[in-house]
Amino acid sequence: MKLSSRIDVMKPSAIREAGKLIAAKKNCISFAAGLPSPDFIPVEIIKEITEKVLNENGVQALQYGPTKGHEPLLHKIKERMHKKGMPCGIENLQITTGSQQAISFSAMLFLDKGDTIITENPSYLGALASFAPFECQVKGVNADSEGMKMDELEKLLSEDKKAKMIYVVPNFSNPTGKTWSLERRQKLYELACKYDLPIIEDDPYGEIRFEGNHVPSIKSMDIENRVVYLGSFSKIFCAGLRVGWVMAAPDLIDKYEMIKQGADLQSNQLAQMQVETYLNNYDIDAQVDKIIEGYKSKRDLMCHLIDEHFPKSILRTKPEGGMFVWLDLPDGVDATDLLHKALDIDVGFVPGGPFFAEKGHENTIRLNYSTMNPDQIEIGIKKLGVLFHDEL
Ligand SMILES: Cc1ncc(COP(=O)(O)O)c(C=O)c1O
Repeated sequence: MKLSSRIDVMKPSAIREAGKLIAAKKNCISFAAGLPSPDFIPVEIIKEITEKVLNENGVQALQYGPTKGHEPLLHKIKERMHKKGMPCGIENLQITTGSQQAISFSAMLFLDKGDTIITENPSYLGALASFAPFECQVKGVNADSEGMKMDELEKLLSEDKKAKMIYVVPNFSNPTGKTWSLERRQKLYELACKYDLPIIEDDPYGEIRFEGNHVPSIKSMDIENRVVYLGSFSKIFCAGLRVGWVMAAPDLIDKYEMIKQGADLQSNQLAQMQVETYLNNYDIDAQVDKIIEGYKSKRDLMCHLIDEHFPKSILRTKPEGGMFVWLDLPDGVDATDLLHKALDIDVGFVPGGPFFAEKGHENTIRLNYSTMNPDQIEIGIKKLGVLFHDEL
């Protein structure tokens, strides 16, 4: 039986592959997956909410619902977007099964075979994976501490006539934890207008800021309606419910709705009603504050331990929010080799190479600090410190 040619270019996620190796070991301390902390998953509240939804609107929750999404939830998201400086109507919104689905739908909407997608270098691995079946070329633009380098981007845009879409994570990026400055966001928007390109602004971590000032989203500058903003409840509520949304111009939203219809008809109705009931009856901002406080202390602990125990030749980021620290190791070091040695001492992480559009950068590592508890962070980073001193 012949499979499609598209399947040949799809690869298993490096995170899930590292995850399998880690899962095969008992008691492994894992800095690999980007999972929200188990401490902030409100199981008891979900039990209560589920009972309420099923008692009050059981049939609706278990019946087919509208493709666009559960209308009362769309209104709650509209209110939240307003509060976050991105006012919109429900005609600007489409519910998706996490923002992951919205990334894939964006590729479906904007790309033809052979087109170029521009990402930051490195970028979110899940986005790179979801672009793979579209048989496009992904080109990464390098970044510094302020975001994507605009001179490199402009050069690329002036040379590559196939460039069709720009995908960015400007807040507390996965994998580096970096945040773009306002100037870089403005310049990106200016270039997107000049070259008539859509920007996909993926923002699952934007609310999880520990310090520093909020930087306006690119969507908030969007007078030409070319920014597609992706939001998600995964990092601020429950990832397993798989509820995210797209915010864009109504004509684009109509297209997302059409794509959604073909893909899965609608997102899970019960999950959408659980989120809506939570937003109506609980204080999500208080929940976000708890997450911020918990992750900030873990970020501080991990960064402090890295400074104390890792060789000075290893450079790290210090994220102002989100869930990840990024490591640059000396040239020539292979992080995949180090991962195998780390697994022997029961510690896991993700090598950074797969987060880049092109090959190379094997001397990089992503560390997640949200999932493990403080004791595990301490033991794991100390063990890695000993290993890295031995190996580098
Ligand atoms: C940058 C980025 N975008 C999107 C996603 C997918 O999130 P969701 O759970 O909303 O599908 C993730 C998940 O880790 C992410 O890091």
